[in-house]
Amino acid sequence: MRQHIVAGNWKMNMSFEGADDLTNEIKEMLEEHTLPKETLLVVCPPFPYLELVSDYSSESYFAVGAQNVSDRDNGAFTGEVSAEMLESMELEYCIVGHSERRAYYGETNALVAAKVNQLIKHDISPIVCVGEVLEEREAGKQFEVVAQQLVEGLFHLSANDFRRVVIAYEPVWAIGTGKTATPEQAQEIHAHIRGLIAKQYGQEVADDTSILYGGSCKPSNAKELFDPDVDGGLIGGASLKAKDFIDIALSF
Ligand code: PGA
Repeated sequence: MRQHIVAGNWKMNMSFEGADDLTNEIKEMLEEHTLPKETLLVVCPPFPYLELVSDYSSESYFAVGAQNVSDRDNGAFTGEVSAEMLESMELEYCIVGHSERRAYYGETNALVAAKVNQLIKHDISPIVCVGEVLEEREAGKQFEVVAQQLVEGLFHLSANDFRRVVIAYEPVWAIGTGKTATPEQAQEIHAHIRGLIAKQYGQEVADDTSILYGGSCKPSNAKELFDPDVDGGLIGGASLKAKDFIDIALSF
């Protein structure tokens, strides 16, 4: 059975001290509330806090992910962080292709594909974000936009490598806006994504792939969103509050 995943994307937020406090709170809440066995929590802090959060994760019950990775091997690429470095820290996940990176840093589907390849090479599961902007939704193009992102960013992988991938459908118009996709809208596009995976890799791989929803997901709407093709969430704003983050994970 595929895994339920609730991943917290802290984005570029928090001081070191704030990160310490938040992670400690998450840990304490996880000691009070046991998550269902098939639900995995992933915390994705900014790069400078990865070690801090990883130290907590070793004694607690969540996995740790980065928010970005270089498309290059190690070397003279000032400011970049390689998949090999993340692997050496024993990180298990890394977000790729977030709409903010696509919009502000020119991350194309080709760059997403190159980053995914680096992560797979270093045994890290990519959490690959796809999703349409408002104009595309209004023009009814969301299905083709998402299909193109999958084909160009992911479908070059072998079935075996694809099994490591987690997909996050994040309608760009719902990110940080307080607007959420309706459960019907989310379910419809998640089923579409699963159908595309089935066509490319077969039904078994599709059935095993976790497809998360992201975009103003919070404790009050998580329960209705997580069903039946929506296998969890990629959470931005609400992941900065331990209680909200854990409440979302307890929504299954
Ligand atoms: P949000 O962000 O939950 O703040 O809308 C989600 C995301 O960008 O991953």
